[in-house]
Amino acid sequence: MKTAIAIIGAGPSGLLLGQLLHNAGIENVILERKSGEYVLSRVRAGILEQGMVDLLREAKVDKRMNEEGLIHDGIEISVDNKSTRIDLKGLTGGSTVMVYGQTELTRDLMEARAAAGAVTIYEAKNVQPHDLKTDKPYVTYVKDGQEHRLDCEYVIGCDGYHGVARQCIPSDVLKTYERVYPFGWLGILAEVPPVNDELIYASHERGFALCSMRSQTRSRYYIQVSSEDTVEQWSDDRFWEELKRRLPADVAERMVTGPSFEKSIAPLRSFVAEPMQYGRLFLAGDAAHIVPPTGAKGLNLAASDVSTLYRILLKVFKEGRTDLIPKYSEICLRRIWKAERFSWWMTTMMHRFDEFDDFTRRIHAAEFDYFINSEAGRRTIAENYVGLPYEPIE
Ligand code: APR
Ligand code: PHB
Repeated sequence: MKTAIAIIGAGPSGLLLGQLLHNAGIENVILERKSGEYVLSRVRAGILEQGMVDLLREAKVDKRMNEEGLIHDGIEISVDNKSTRIDLKGLTGGSTVMVYGQTELTRDLMEARAAAGAVTIYEAKNVQPHDLKTDKPYVTYVKDGQEHRLDCEYVIGCDGYHGVARQCIPSDVLKTYERVYPFGWLGILAEVPPVNDELIYASHERGFALCSMRSQTRSRYYIQVSSEDTVEQWSDDRFWEELKRRLPADVAERMVTGPSFEKSIAPLRSFVAEPMQYGRLFLAGDAAHIVPPTGAKGLNLAASDVSTLYRILLKVFKEGRTDLIPKYSEICLRRIWKAERFSWWMTTMMHRFDEFDDFTRRIHAAEFDYFINSEAGRRTIAENYVGLPYEPIE
């Protein structure tokens, strides 16, 4: 088989890039290790920056998002049970975020791809890129026990943190930066109305908590737990009780609880791989970087990588601008590192770190108190939360 662009991974990065390229007449094939149902069973993020919403509109996969997505003008930050609103819209000159689950978005992207007749090969095993430093790269994979070869002009690694693409960059070229946090987030989904119209991020001496949602009738709640904890240790009752203790009393009182239908623990990590391009290979999304979820940046960074790569590939294919290829990495990384900083900072300010001494805790408390109670501080949080601008590709 032959195509212009071989995309590895059918998560949000691969599917969105594939859709944009397809609409622009640039043929692409997606190779995905798992089944479509498996990809849709993963519960992930739910906050879209304006830049990502605009990109989905450009890709023409915005119909259901426009109907069902909830626009949020602000967030609440609670510190030791005292709440402050961050007026995202007012502080940024009109920017907002949209609540729309990654699972729903992935479903929309998969349906748009199927309707367009673009090829996705699910359950492609042993996916392996070859000859990336030549002008004739190709990817081999096994499907139903048979080995196949996909010839292409460029290979895009949209295959997440555990993918194969990043490993194709030689170790003397690739540099990685990493921080693993000494706790995780226990998250649940429940068919109960959200406790608040806007998200509540809560910092408490017992640990962090987050009240989020998927719709007017479905809530997503998280609490910080020890890295050693298992889901079995957290009955629904224990979860609700602990969540309420970390929230202001009036919020805890009006919370509607109910059985969870999804419960999982996610580790927290910051990770960046540089460079994001090597020969004819490009990395996008979680394949190149991970952020802790505290700033809601993971999915949005995937979108900004895809936007940058799409605009570069358009110019490469339509105008012969191969000079842009080596610029991809530096353009993406400038925005990625700022989102890494914001996610690390929100995580550090809002979680309980057992290893911090009392002095460090007081300094962090003072720093966060300053940010929350100064308009300049709140604006800094708001600007980062709604998403920093995408760099134009010229
Ligand atoms: N071969 C083929 N496919 C692979 C391989 C491989 N060797 N390794 C991984 N994959 C697939 C995974 O099964 C997954 O479907 O690549 C896909 C990667 O998807 P994600 O991990 O979702 O990464 P990405 O598309 O970059 O999405 C960005 O934003 O909210 C955050 O982390 C969250 O998933 C989210 C991410
Ligand atoms: C979520 O709804 O899953 C969510 C929202 C905001 C975050 C992280 C996760 O910062």
